Amino acid sequence: MTSSADMRTKRDNVILAIIGGTGFEGVPEFAITRQEAVDTPYGKPSSMLYHVSLHGKPSVFISRHGAGSRIMPHQINYRANIFALHELGVTDVIAMGAVGGITPRFTTGSLALPNQIIDYTWGRKHTFVDDQVDFDILEGESGHAEFSYPYDRHLRESILSCAETIGMPVIDHGVYGVTQGPRLETAAEIDRMDRDGVDMVGMTAMPEAALARELGMSYATLAMVVNPAAGRSDEPISMEDIRRVLEKTTNKACQLLLAFHSIG
Ligand code: HPA
Repeated sequence: MTSSADMRTKRDNVILAIIGGTGFEGVPEFAITRQEAVDTPYGKPSSMLYHVSLHGKPSVFISRHGAGSRIMPHQINYRANIFALHELGVTDVIAMGAVGGITPRFTTGSLALPNQIIDYTWGRKHTFVDDQVDFDILEGESGHAEFSYPYDRHLRESILSCAETIGMPVIDHGVYGVTQGPRLETAAEIDRMDRDGVDMVGMTAMPEAALARELGMSYATLAMVVNPAAGRSDEPISMEDIRRVLEKTTNKACQLLLAFHSIG
């Protein structure tokens, strides 16, 4: 069991990273103090690592889809991104991501903090446990990461409490279903996901969350619901509509991240 004293110690030594999703270019108020291009044993991360600072508090920002959002979800080098953050000593990761809403609570334009994941992806490099595994950097010694609860409870609770403080509505709990992409889903696939218990669908939470867990980093997804999932509206899914919603939800997410950085 972790005592509250342990938790306090842990939170005192936090180094936060934000993984920016589609359309997210960073929180404008965060001043970039340094940017570095790094390489890892797994290849190059999606973008430079941007060291940012607010009120003298440092964080790191990386763009998951790279400059101009050109790297598609199935092409992302998730291992390089997570490894690079770990090398910097990052302890906590807030991963932004756009999702489609499946169940009624997940209305377009809302922010959500999922607490569970179902992984429908395939063929992605999903683990650090391979030929070149360095067991010393793995959380635990067996290589079998404990993943019953993929999102870090304390990190989620801190974000939720910040959201409450600034009066920002955030949907608490929900199952994030991760699809392979890059195409969107069929209506029947979404119906099946609904039967599986999935609330929102996106393409990037896995293997990212599992890799962060393998390296012992706390991880939470800040999901932005940008469209009703396939078959959940009478209209076809429009990229133009998504872009419009994304702009608004990204602004809300930035406000929350600012508060988290200042209070959290
Ligand atoms: N499906 C999968 N990923 C997504 C969606 C969607 O409807 N919207 C945003 N990311």
